[in-house]
Amino acid sequence: MSILIINGPNLNLLGTREPAIYGHETLSDVENTAKSLASSHGLSLETFQSNHEGAIIDRIHEAAGFGPQGDGQRHIDWIIINPGALTHTSVGLRDALNGVSIPFVECHISNVHTREEFRHKSFLSDKAVAVIAGLGTFGYEAAVNFVARKIKAGK
Ligand code: DQA
Repeated sequence: MSILIINGPNLNLLGTREPAIYGHETLSDVENTAKSLASSHGLSLETFQSNHEGAIIDRIHEAAGFGPQGDGQRHIDWIIINPGALTHTSVGLRDALNGVSIPFVECHISNVHTREEFRHKSFLSDKAVAVIAGLGTFGYEAAVNFVARKIKAGK
């Protein structure tokens, strides 16, 4: 069973970007920790980051075997996604996730609900199996553990 972690715009800057909000861990730190954790659960984990909405949508399609890179086979059983700013703007991302029917966890490093009002609205939350916000980068580990538990339970 496979998990895909997707990070959206500006999350490549983790570690140097607004550390008071997002912490000091880099995206590689986060991805490596998530990979070892998944492997301790006997799961494989792929990662993808892009600053481009269309590239993220293409990656989601590919996970389900659709599109030019797709082979008709679903490769990914669960998605953990931190869509960054696209959370608050992207109907296209919402449609892509709904279109492939891969269950997903929406994960935010910061507690978006204590921040500017425009961050309170998410185009994804009502379709997510779970939403994590405000746990810092530990949120990705929490998400992997949650997904592992769901997979073990056969859900
Ligand atoms: C974020 C919160 C978003 O509002 C913001 O645009 C981000 C990161 C988070 O992880 O807390 O880029 O998704």
